[in-house]
Amino acid sequence: MSEIKKKIEELSKQLEEHNYNYYVLSNPTISDYEFDKMLEELIRLEKEHPEFLRGDSPSQRVGGQITKEFKSVKHKYPMLSLSNTYNEGEVRDFDERIRKAGISDQEYVCELKYDGVSISLTYVNGELVQAVTRGDGEKGDDITANVKTIKSIPLKLRGTGFPDEFEIRGEIFMPKKEFLRINEEMRKQLVEEGYDEEEIVEKQLKNPRNATSGTLKQQDSKAVAERKLDCYLYSLLGENLPHGSHYENLLEAKKWGFRISADMEKVSSVDEILKYLEKWDKKRHHLDVETDGVVIKVNSYEHQKFLGFTAKSPRWAIAYKFKAQQVSTVLNEITYQVGRTGAITPVANLKPVQLAGTTVKRASLHNADIIEKLDVRLGDTVFVEKGGEIIPKIIAVDLSKRDMFVESNGPTVYITHCPECGEELVRSEGEANHYCPNEAGCPPQVKGKIEHYVSRRAMNIDSLGGETIAQLFGAGLIRNIADLYELKKEDLLKLDRMAEKSANNLLAGIEASKQVPFERVLFAIGIRHIGETTAKKLAHSFKSIDALSKASVETLLEVGDIGERIANTIVEFFSNAEHAAIISRLRLQGLQFELSEEQMSNASDKLKDKTFVVSGVFSKFSRDEIKKIIEQNGGKNVGSISGKTSYVLAGENMGPEKLKKAEKLGVPIISEDEFIKMVE
Ligand code: IVH
Repeated sequence: MSEIKKKIEELSKQLEEHNYNYYVLSNPTISDYEFDKMLEELIRLEKEHPEFLRGDSPSQRVGGQITKEFKSVKHKYPMLSLSNTYNEGEVRDFDERIRKAGISDQEYVCELKYDGVSISLTYVNGELVQAVTRGDGEKGDDITANVKTIKSIPLKLRGTGFPDEFEIRGEIFMPKKEFLRINEEMRKQLVEEGYDEEEIVEKQLKNPRNATSGTLKQQDSKAVAERKLDCYLYSLLGENLPHGSHYENLLEAKKWGFRISADMEKVSSVDEILKYLEKWDKKRHHLDVETDGVVIKVNSYEHQKFLGFTAKSPRWAIAYKFKAQQVSTVLNEITYQVGRTGAITPVANLKPVQLAGTTVKRASLHNADIIEKLDVRLGDTVFVEKGGEIIPKIIAVDLSKRDMFVESNGPTVYITHCPECGEELVRSEGEANHYCPNEAGCPPQVKGKIEHYVSRRAMNIDSLGGETIAQLFGAGLIRNIADLYELKKEDLLKLDRMAEKSANNLLAGIEASKQVPFERVLFAIGIRHIGETTAKKLAHSFKSIDALSKASVETLLEVGDIGERIANTIVEFFSNAEHAAIISRLRLQGLQFELSEEQMSNASDKLKDKTFVVSGVFSKFSRDEIKKIIEQNGGKNVGSISGKTSYVLAGENMGPEKLKKAEKLGVPIISEDEFIKMVE
């Protein structure tokens, strides 16, 4: 055997062992750094010697494989659902039915019902060969490449005794911590991009289950690898399983390297089942995975077979669904937060109460309409619910607890003036939120706008953080972004904790920002609804702030993806005298208010009115670079082929389905070289 092949095998074996130690046993024996080094080495060797790359190599876990269209696969054994029960009585009925069928020495297995996406994995000779979603129960999608990135799913089995071919089913989920991490990161980025609170909540992941299913549908398995999904396996299917019962087979599967939950229990009476339900009703909130119930299964396969199935579900198992977590508590106060864009968010301040493992003190009330609909009043007892959403919400008022004192408080009257600056609030037609229009004088708005201006994706003045901004604002040194450029060292030195060195740094950072390209300046000045992408588009379409500031709504609407709301906001922004004054001060300071010469010469409108679907892998440019070139030349990228598509730009490995569709619709298919010629 070649030395290289041997080395690849050795590294693969060691890496899988470490993966197992880390993700299945939670007991790592080497550092992340050492692990990464080994993995890098493996990837390098496989790249140089692709003939030795195996489908079960640990390098598959970092992703990279693109699946254009998920293949539909028929399940060998249909994937059924379970009938639900909601109370003790129904669980007792289930037990009763089983006894009546003549099974008296029954054993049950109680498992938690994980809230994610179910998956069926096929192993042949100890190697993961296919991973298919539930789909409609008969047929599902082949998402093997994506599933291989989930570290706790073995690509190759350990030990001995597994059948040559079998299926194992389970639930892929996003751990709660990972869900919160992604949402927090998303929030930071969206704040930087200038979205307001309402839009952020709209764009964030809704709950861990949705997030899991969205992630698994990604075409690029690298994107899946970046989100740390996990998986519990809970059922084996096949001809030659080692035992005649469910529980014992799962214990065996654990030895083969599968992640089997330690929380399952084998019991032999309905009372023990009820004890399990009671225990987990509370305890489940401390797990890092969302659960929405318990699954109760008859253990013996022989009994299962005897009991059989109804049209939709097995008679040998049921799901018991936990009640949504609700508590009631008292509404002490409604406070109002003012965001950077002036949007007002009402917040319910509650008498602290324990709910689903955390103390809840506050809940969002969203906007005036919601408050009115709930008719929630100060002093009311309210029901608070925490669904999969993590952020608690008020679902109703407990009117039976509304006494004469609360009654006398009268309906909640929404504030009419800004709690921060006293300005009268406005609410535009069709908008759910109230706004404080005092952009230039309302402290959270002023500070928020400056924070946005200096943020990394905008002007990237990292020597100026939120605290210093608050300090400068407090000292009356800054009231808007133009004031930054007039800061003097002697003023800075008067501030607390501001030494010579930090003052120099700060001023140097501000000075350097004068070189930031126009498209980022346009994003940084904080026109409402203008995120990074829109700013880029506007910069390239209008080329200078002068041209943009003179554009009419009609002209703006001609730019792709600019709708009426954005067009109106832009026109309003530039017609405001205060904005005009700030912009002319910034211009005097030498900020970039037009595209650089290089950018101008690059850009063209050669691809104007042309839409492209870019698909596959390219050799001269990355896919993102190609998309950028299309935009720079006035073209538009779209995701799927339709009769309106001008060209399909096909790289290597483009999916056959897409090719077929393009041919059917008569959309021209061009190569990378042909494309380069178009823009030269
Ligand atoms: S057993 C014949 N066990 O719940 C059905 N399912 O409606 C076999 N689920 O689609 C399913 N945790 O996605 C089983 N411990 C568990 C489960 C579980 C979650 C999901 C699964 C299934 C749905 C049942």
